Formats: sequence, structure tokens, C-alpha cells
Amino acid sequence: MRTLLVTGGAGFIGSNFVHMTRRRYPGDHIIVLDKLTYAGNRANLAGTDVEFIEGDVCDAALVDKLVARADITVHFAAESHNDNSLRDPRPFVDTNIVGTFTILEAIRRHGNRLHHISTDEVYGDLGLDDPARFTEETPYEPSSPYSATKAGSDHLVRAWVRSFGIRATISNCSNNYGPYQHIEKFIPRQITNILAGQTPKLYGTGEQVRDWIHVDDHNAAVHLILERGRNGETYNIGADNDHVNNKAVIELICELMGAPGYEHVADRPGHDQRYAMDSTKLRTELGWAPEYTDNQTGMRAGLEQTIAWYRDNGQWWAPAKQRVEQAYAERGQ
Ligand code: NAD
Ligand code: TYD
Repeated sequence: MRTLLVTGGAGFIGSNFVHMTRRRYPGDHIIVLDKLTYAGNRANLAGTDVEFIEGDVCDAALVDKLVARADITVHFAAESHNDNSLRDPRPFVDTNIVGTFTILEAIRRHGNRLHHISTDEVYGDLGLDDPARFTEETPYEPSSPYSATKAGSDHLVRAWVRSFGIRATISNCSNNYGPYQHIEKFIPRQITNILAGQTPKLYGTGEQVRDWIHVDDHNAAVHLILERGRNGETYNIGADNDHVNNKAVIELICELMGAPGYEHVADRPGHDQRYAMDSTKLRTELGWAPEYTDNQTGMRAGLEQTIAWYRDNGQWWAPAKQRVEQAYAERGQ
């Protein structure tokens, strides 16, 4: 039986991680530390018996106390939305950099294990016609305040491993989708637009490529890394969906939901073109493979499950819908 400290456990990926941990490791004790920002929702953890602590990962005294009790800290907490980082980068520097620093200092004092959750966006982007994929050796070249602060947090973790000998692993994952994802993000925004009788919105021409992965495939990889990952190592996580552009995703959502079509809206400034992950290391070393796959888009089964979840959980997203769409409308999106 382990005690896990899950930071950001009331957010999208963290709460799915908690649910998966409960299913797979019912004996584990789970402590969730979450500030409950606009992106965190206590209701995401309904039905779980976690010890929930509302607090900030930048609060050194609180973090120290909680890390001391945990065998493993899994650090999901972050400001996570690119569009928000373009409007106001400050919280990204605080949470993503100072927050990670605070966790690292507590890990250094107590000598227990850390897994740091990061993103493919630290590697920058690829050209639309560039067939390359990011490997763990690809140099960092972040382009937005979000990805730059995540890159900074990864560098801190590596420096603490090398300089102070802490026990830590890092994973960099591609774009996730699935239940409990905030409706400001691409896929749930379109699903809830259709459910609310509004038109789905595609930025620019929609040629950009995200290497989409279902959140359960991401979290299954995290569990494998916790069990068998080598100390100090980084593992890329991706489901080989780097041939699917935004236009294809929105068309598939429309098809699955019987929606007549979508509209093009203003593009994102500095829009990253293409992300593609090479997850060979994770697959060969730890034996991971995604479960949500198919021959064409790799997303049909995952999207059907996700659409069903949003259809069944209108009370979860409907209260935020108008506010989110108003903020987008003010930017022509
Ligand atoms: P999210 O925005 O849905 O959740 C973030 C959670 O962190 C929220 O519950 C929020 O309340 C909490 N939080 C924010 N600031 C905090 C603070 N200062 N102290 C404590 N808690 C705080 O994000 P997500 O999509 O679930 O992403 C989780 C992690 O996964 C992030 O580190 C992100 O960079 C990484 N990631 C996300 C994706 C993706 O597609 N969403 C892909 C790869 C990696
Ligand atoms: P997003 O979900 O914001 O994730 P990220 O910025 O981390 O990739 O966006 C995914 C892609 O979808 C990105 O290329 C921008 C695009 N997009 C739209 O076309 N329409 C939308 O309404 C949103 C929110 C995003």
C-alpha cells in the first residue's frame, strides 16, 4: 500500500489519474493537493475517498508537510491553457516554475519519489510537411508562455536530479482528450457547442496537427513509469495520431454527433503547427501501448466515449459554457 500525493488532482488529467488509481490500486492512500483555480473542480473527484487539501503548490510549508507523508508525488498541477498564457503569463510563471521548484525542494528534504508531468509542447513545433517526431533527445524550443514555463519546470527537475540526487522521472505527453476536460479546450469545446446548439469553431484553416491521445492511455503510461521507470529518465508519451489535423478532428466530431458543420474563426497568434511524439522508448522499455486506437484516425472509439460522457454530464459543463464562449467571442474566436 502506497501513499500518493497528486498535485492538480482536481483538474482534467489529474482527476482521471485518481479514478484510474482507485480502480487499479484500491489499497493506495491518495492525497490531492489542488488550488481549485477556474480549471479545478472538486466534483471531478466525486465518488473517490481521497484526502482532499485545497492549497497552492507554491505554499512551501504546506507542500513540505504533504510531501513528507507521500511515498510518491505525482505533479500534475499547472496552468495549462495556451490561449490564457497569451493573455496573462504571470500565473504560469508562478505555478509552473515556482510551484515545481517548491515541490522539488520538499522532495530534496524528504528523499521520496517524484514523477513530473510535462508536455510535448516543450519541444516547440514541427513544419506541417516535416515527417519528424519529437524524441527524448530533441532540443527544447518552446514557443508560448505556457510551453516555456513547462520547459523551465522540466529543466529544474533534471537539475535537481543531477545536482542533488533526488529520485525523479519525467513524462512528456501529447494533447489529451477525454472526460472532465475543461470546455475551453478544443475537443470538449466543439462537443459542448454541438450539444448546446451552437456551431463548432475551427481556428484558421485547421491544418495544425496535434498527436491526440486519450487521457486513460496517458495515465496508464504514468502508472507504468511509477512502477518500472528508471530514475532520472524522461519518457515521451504519444499514440501515433500525428497524421490527424484539427480539421479532420472537427469533421469526425460533427459526423459522430450528426452536426451539419462548423465555422472558421480567428487563428491563434504564434499558432504551433504540428506536434508529433516518438514514444518508442516507453513502448520498448516499459511495454506500453495505447488502448484507444483504430486504423484511420485513432480517435473514433475515444471520441465516442468522450461525447457520451459530455452528453450524460450536462450539469458538469453547462454552468461555465456561456462565460467561456463570451471570452472567446471577445477575441473573434
Ligand atoms: P488542468 O488545467 O485541467 O488542471 C490543472 C489543475 O491544477 C487544476 O485542478 C488546478 O486547480 C490545479 N492548479 C493550478 N494551479 C495550482 C496551484 N498553484 N496549486 C495547486 N493546484 C493548482 O490541466 P490538465 O490538462 O489536467 O494538465 C495537467 C498536467 O498535464 C499539466 O502539468 C499539463 O502541463 C500536463 N499536460 C497536459 C496535456 C493536455 O493535453 N491537457 C498534455 C500533456 C501534458
Ligand atoms: P487546445 O485544446 O487549446 O490545446 P493546445 O493549444 O495545447 O494544442 O487546442 C488544440 C488545437 O485546436 C490547437 O491547434 C488550436 C485548435 N483550436 C481550434 O481550432 N478551435 C478551438 O476552439 C480551440 C480551443 C482550439
